[in-house]
Amino acid sequence: MKIKAVKGTRDFYPQPMAVRNFIIDGWKEASLRNGFEEYDGPIFEYLKMYQVKSGDEIVEQLFNFEDRGGRHLAIRPEITPTLARMVNQQINALPRPIKWFSVPRLCRAERPQKGRLREFFQWNIDIIGVDSVLADAEVIFTSIDYLRGLGLDADDIKARISSRKLLAAFLKSAGIAEDQLESIYPVLDKKPKLPPEAFDELLLKSIPDSDIAEKVQKFMVLDDVAKIAAMSDGSEELEDAIAELAELFRILDNMGIADYCVFDPGIVRGLAYYTGVVFEVHDVVGELRALCGGGRYDNLLSDFGGPSVPATGMGMGDCVLEILLREKGLLKDDKLQTKKIDCFVAYASGEFAGEAVKLTAELRGLGVFTDFSYKGGNLGKQLKKAASAGASHTVIIGQEFADGGKYVLKTMATGDQAEVTPESLYEMVTRDKG
Ligand code: HAM
Repeated sequence: MKIKAVKGTRDFYPQPMAVRNFIIDGWKEASLRNGFEEYDGPIFEYLKMYQVKSGDEIVEQLFNFEDRGGRHLAIRPEITPTLARMVNQQINALPRPIKWFSVPRLCRAERPQKGRLREFFQWNIDIIGVDSVLADAEVIFTSIDYLRGLGLDADDIKARISSRKLLAAFLKSAGIAEDQLESIYPVLDKKPKLPPEAFDELLLKSIPDSDIAEKVQKFMVLDDVAKIAAMSDGSEELEDAIAELAELFRILDNMGIADYCVFDPGIVRGLAYYTGVVFEVHDVVGELRALCGGGRYDNLLSDFGGPSVPATGMGMGDCVLEILLREKGLLKDDKLQTKKIDCFVAYASGEFAGEAVKLTAELRGLGVFTDFSYKGGNLGKQLKKAASAGASHTVIIGQEFADGGKYVLKTMATGDQAEVTPESLYEMVTRDKG
């Protein structure tokens, strides 16, 4: 019986694994550089945790199951609910602000497509306990800080920023009742993902008044906060939301990333828990799905039975990112090493095989990353193996060892060879390791 991998999953052979590590190591470094601490949670949780506030789209995409004790569980499709649960559990003990990051492996039963799989890795950064837009700005800054560090500049990517507060105030001023808002957000979020006619049809289903629906369509394509101010009906809620966005853009300018940031009221976000600033980073060409998305979710902790504590954050998946980096020629696969060998031990003939094993073990014990060939044989072949493993030195055990207990040490970069005693060999290879 031939068993295949499940649709939408990936097998990480050593080369793709090196790419995955390159992405994740960068996420971790950018998090630490921006003052975040790492956390993690379990890979499955109670199913109901995702049914409370994540929204229908994610609930439809859950991998859920019943365990032997009859518990209804789900594999995590995102980590934000876990974070809210964990913070709630220790809310009085945790010093605030909480600035945490995580790189969970997530599963969503989505239809696999370009940049969307059923299992993926997602970088999360979240700031809990700060209601100022300075925290939203820091989340956006940290995302851009990582992406620009990879070589993506403001012509390649843009953070598209809006606000749920602004949208709510606008929708209400356009005549939509407060209790309808939550059902309209996921519809508006579908706009960039659907052909225009399909979206129009969907919109008219949730906003049957065509005048209001038209107003909403017009609002979603405005490109300047000032144009919204001109449309304002003078409601305090709308004025506050506009002022908050203006403040956010001032801070982003001060942080030096204004050229990466644009206002886009078409950004709504599909998840139900967002309450304030929302953003997504997209490739400028606009052919790919979002690189990342996030925003403020001030009610999630209290929705989970905790106190009312403000929060903001974002998630970035590895799939679209990898596609974009390849398209831009910024992923140098061939430079990513799958092995990290410093020293290779080769032997001129079978009689030295035991000595090679002994020396390899000794060097490994000294902390030197060392390998050798099981088969031995032709010295040329062993040297090739050493080169492809990326070894900086090869120790050759041969006649010099039989005659005077010395090794031949070959420096791979220059090809220089020298006879060395065991003591000086240890000294040289460990010194080279730093
Ligand atoms: P999200 O928009 O559902 O937000 O996902 C964020 C990012 O995760 C997406 O922009 C994409 O890069 C990646 N992603 C999502 N689904 C898939 C998939 N099926 N395959 C590959 N990549 C995917 C959230 O998950 C929020 N919890 C983020 C957040 C954290 N908001 C506040 N804090």
